[in-house]
Amino acid sequence: MKIEDLAVPESVKEILIRNGISTLYPPQEEAIKARALEGQNLVLASPTASGKTLVAELCALKHVLEKNGKVLYLTPLRALANEKFEEFKKYTTIKKSNGRQVRVGISTGDFDSSDPWLERYDIIVTTNEKADSLLRHRAKWMDEISLVVADEVHLLNEPERGPTLEVVLARLLQINPDTQLLVLSATVKNADELAEWLKADYITTEWRPVTLKEGVVWQNEIIFKDGSAVKVDKHSKDTAINLAAHTVKLGGQALVFASTRKNAVGHAKKAAPEIEALLSKPMKRSLETLSEQIATMGEHTRLGDALAEVVRGGVAFHHAGLGGAHRKIIEDAFREGKIKVLTATPTLAFGVNLPARMVIIHDYRRYDPGYGFYPISVLEYKQMAGRAGRPKYDKVGEAVLIAKTDDERDYLMQSYVLAQPERIWSKLAVERILRPHVLATIAANYAQTEQSVYEFFGKTFYAYQYAPEAIQKVIAKILKFLYDEDMIDVVGEKILATKFGRRISELYIDPVSGVVIRDAFKQKPPMLSDTSFLHMVAHTPDMVPRTRPYSGEYDELALFVDSHREEFFIPPPSEWEDRIAYEEFLAEAKAAMVMNAWTEERTEDEIIERFMVQPGDLYRLIETGKWLLHASHELAVLFGEKEYLPPLDALLSRIEKGVKKELLPLVKLEGIGRVRARILYNSGYKTVEDLKHAPVENLTKLPLIGPKLARKIKEQVGGFMKTEEWKKLKTEKGAEQQPLTDYY
Ligand SMILES: Nc1ncnc2c1ncn2[C@@H]1O[C@H](COP(=O)(O)OP(=O)(O)OP(=O)(O)O)[C@@H](O)[C@H]1O
Ligand SMILES: [Mg+2]
Repeated sequence: MKIEDLAVPESVKEILIRNGISTLYPPQEEAIKARALEGQNLVLASPTASGKTLVAELCALKHVLEKNGKVLYLTPLRALANEKFEEFKKYTTIKKSNGRQVRVGISTGDFDSSDPWLERYDIIVTTNEKADSLLRHRAKWMDEISLVVADEVHLLNEPERGPTLEVVLARLLQINPDTQLLVLSATVKNADELAEWLKADYITTEWRPVTLKEGVVWQNEIIFKDGSAVKVDKHSKDTAINLAAHTVKLGGQALVFASTRKNAVGHAKKAAPEIEALLSKPMKRSLETLSEQIATMGEHTRLGDALAEVVRGGVAFHHAGLGGAHRKIIEDAFREGKIKVLTATPTLAFGVNLPARMVIIHDYRRYDPGYGFYPISVLEYKQMAGRAGRPKYDKVGEAVLIAKTDDERDYLMQSYVLAQPERIWSKLAVERILRPHVLATIAANYAQTEQSVYEFFGKTFYAYQYAPEAIQKVIAKILKFLYDEDMIDVVGEKILATKFGRRISELYIDPVSGVVIRDAFKQKPPMLSDTSFLHMVAHTPDMVPRTRPYSGEYDELALFVDSHREEFFIPPPSEWEDRIAYEEFLAEAKAAMVMNAWTEERTEDEIIERFMVQPGDLYRLIETGKWLLHASHELAVLFGEKEYLPPLDALLSRIEKGVKKELLPLVKLEGIGRVRARILYNSGYKTVEDLKHAPVENLTKLPLIGPKLARKIKEQVGGFMKTEEWKKLKTEKGAEQQPLTDYY
């Protein structure tokens, strides 16, 4: 089927053809034949890179241009939301019948807002969590949605994040039963069941744009599913390196999946010298430049150094511990073919478009502190394997599991290569997970009686797969908890949320966190300090990532707890009576110390080294801390705890920027982050007034402040700059080289 024959506006076809897409892939054709363009609900379960997004694009434009509709595109990750947003942007040149251009919007942050500004957009890309929070705020424009696209829906199977997607889908259907649903998923065994739940048709395909050869390697010989075998040269003791080198020598790229971040870094370090030996001179020079770019990006950290080092050898690692800027530069360099071997944790297998000729699955086992080692699911294996093969570059893609023994080779062949992906199962009926959703159902007025709460949850995938009664017991228990904690009230038949309950739901925190904060506020420690608040938020179940003290750290943490005893809202448990609770407390104290170090302007590198946290985790910890402090502030307002407001306000501004109080006026300026603000302050420019009077040439003499930034500062503080002054600065050698980011 040709693009030009499709029943979509010409303007859309033109854009696609200009982008090199002229014929539909078979799964896309099936979707069109299944009447996706006529509004049919559809579950499309097909392999990685089989072009599911294009079906969504066609349907979306159909809605916007021909049906005066509005589209919501749900993704599981921010990175993926960004990617989809970029993909949809190409349509913004098209005009709608009212003469206005198609508008594409994205919203992934701030869970305490209904984002009324999104009303103006035709296609809105969000994460599942953001959509959930918008539904809790009853964003009005959500009633106008005529098409919901849900991407990567096999996520339903994941215990922590699947339930949110499930509730969002059920809720969107509740408020708008006529909305068209387009559900995109990896190949799963029970697409039919999923479809039945959503009253949709389903399509499952095995089609891929590049043929995939799956196999197992043992003693440097790969045996593929079809029985063919390939010998791999033995350079190193490490099989993964031999496989990667094999691919690079033949002009391809390799993606190595490791089970942990530490292993990902370790594999990259080991592979770098071996791969470097295979590179051409011009390639090495180009990598040298890339390496320098990485080393000088953002604040200096050791993980950044390690990355810069391996990049010289054409190798990189990719995991959630890396900062966003580093991740982006690595992804781009891999797509450009500069990075030959990328080692990664399994999160990379989630939708982000980064294919490689060979995928090497280093470990088929994962470690869970509670369970020990367990083998990954076939679904997860297929997601990783499916990353093999770059369309346009590779004729075939190869995915290889590593076996250590003959027996293991047979096991891997049977259990993964020849196996079918599992069914997906709803994970909704877990009290901790379900609790916020039950509260939200009442608080946002989606249900006004106990019966209607049960009815709503009776329409979830969980109820569909098990039985509506199966979830009722958990809900009843949660309702009792919410009632006991004054989050809901019962008046005759009716269930209503209290102000407290409503605010908790809107703030997008666990009701238990709300209780922790409310009760803490009643305690009033003898000495109130930043530590009081930072520990309180670290004590809530919403605090992620959970910091884990390392063994050499316990004494220091115990000392900290001891010397700050007067400051805690929640008193430390006795070390002797309840060792487990005490150690948990130490872990929370650690989170508080990390956040405190950040607001005290310790450098990122110092924090990372001292507390052994990774940059990505540090950002997330700060993000969560900020969010929970905001929630605490809002609850203090609600409960009239006025004395907490000024310190919480100050702490919030400080954690946002990572600065001491005195820098707050300076970091408000665009282009000035924590590092530059400190430089200005220490040079005597302590206020906006000081900057207004500062001669520009004095500013540009400071480290990290170039003429462009100096001018920008002047513009913002209302100072002025003579044209000659500006010209003079511009002609100075190297003057324009200073990067203008507000990172510093
Ligand atoms: N008909 C087509 N002709 C040529 N290229 C196409 C066509 N359809 C899609 N593509 C390209 O194929 C690539 C993969 O598509 P897409 O990201 O939609 O895959 P997917 O099915 O969503 O896979 P994943 O499971 O990884 O999310 C994209 O780069 C896209 O531009
Ligand atoms: Mg996709």
